[in-house]
Amino acid sequence: MTGVPTDSADCAESPDSTAWFEAARFGLFVHFGLYSMAARHEWVRSREAMSQEAYDRYLDRFDPDLFDARQLARAAKESGMRYAVLTAKHHDGFCLFGSALTDYTSVRATGRDLVREFVDAMRAEGLRVGLYYSLLDWHHPDFTIDEHHPLRGTAAEEEPRDMARYRAYMEGQIRELLTGYGKIDTLFFDFTYPEKGPEEWGAEHLLSTVRALQPDILVNDRLGVPGDYVTPEQYQPDRPLERAGERVTWEACHTLNGSWGYDRDNHDYKDPALLVRMLVQSVACGGNLILNVGPTGRGALDPQARATLRAIGDWSALHERSVRGAGPSAHEAPAAGLYTQAGNRLYLHLPVWPLKHLHLPGLAGRVRYAQLLHDGSEILFSELDGTRHEHNNLAPPSQPAGTLTLTLPIARPDVLLPVIELELDGAE
Ligand code: GLC
Repeated sequence: MTGVPTDSADCAESPDSTAWFEAARFGLFVHFGLYSMAARHEWVRSREAMSQEAYDRYLDRFDPDLFDARQLARAAKESGMRYAVLTAKHHDGFCLFGSALTDYTSVRATGRDLVREFVDAMRAEGLRVGLYYSLLDWHHPDFTIDEHHPLRGTAAEEEPRDMARYRAYMEGQIRELLTGYGKIDTLFFDFTYPEKGPEEWGAEHLLSTVRALQPDILVNDRLGVPGDYVTPEQYQPDRPLERAGERVTWEACHTLNGSWGYDRDNHDYKDPALLVRMLVQSVACGGNLILNVGPTGRGALDPQARATLRAIGDWSALHERSVRGAGPSAHEAPAAGLYTQAGNRLYLHLPVWPLKHLHLPGLAGRVRYAQLLHDGSEILFSELDGTRHEHNNLAPPSQPAGTLTLTLPIARPDVLLPVIELELDGAE
């Protein structure tokens, strides 16, 4: 990198611990802004190569009368989430906070500082607070026109623009966000792409500014330099993520329907059972899941989002301990099962309900007690000696030695994802 201040010594100082984040496991992402009124994806201005004047029709009518941060906080908490992240500024440059550095804010438009409402409400529910900050800014006059910019291919490309001034603007806004709203637990920068990366963002300087202002904050990796966690997007890792042989902290971010911003005509919804499976798969692979909602143009959760959060909440209320405070297990899960573990509790998640018996490799002699988690009902188990099938001494061995066999009810429990809690003997 050239010409960019490098405070790499400071930069290297990540917070002592990602413990709260990895224990929380499940968070809420909220994408809200002027694009919510267009109701056709948060990239609408870029996708439709809209001029600023055309896009201003949303600013002129912005009225988030149904944006109720307390309701959002309750919905998040009731669905089992323990942190929440709001788009303080998205790629369109519109700020949901009071910034002295621009008029392009919700405060100027409506008198409301939505970031303040959000952080206050989340804290009141005991949730950790995060902010999303877009590195792209299609409103700022110094942000150079690139392949994503709505003004690409127009005469505006000839105007002088100065990324150094834009970098100063970003630093100023990050200072505002990290000094004016109390403790911010996590910061989600977005994003680096071939035309713009760490050099254009002044990434190392920005990151050291963040660390200096809030030493405990967790920062993601999208400045294009390593942060405290990595961010697979709309993609589900199926094993722990590693860098140079070391496990890394990660958070998969997912939409309900493929769009982050409210997208009225998009009905490509993931059903709640799939979302719960994705959450559990994340935990089983040592990661988090942050699930997005895109409130409507008026700021409310649409019925589908509300119903989805409620359904996940019904599951979480009965199964939370297989997720919160849990992580991957060293035990080998049976085919189609997913293990998570917390201390000597091993949680077996069963997306497909087996017929009566379930064989668990390597657990013979290791389990003291087993129960269905949702109702605390005992599950009986036996240890086959590996040479015989039940009731038939002549049959060939069906299971290798060391297998533990559970006897399950015939009827699948009526929950989104059944979980069996196995109490292991000894310390794990
Ligand atoms: C992408 C999109 C953006 C969204 C983000 C969430 O980078 O550009 O619209 O906010 O992902 O991770």
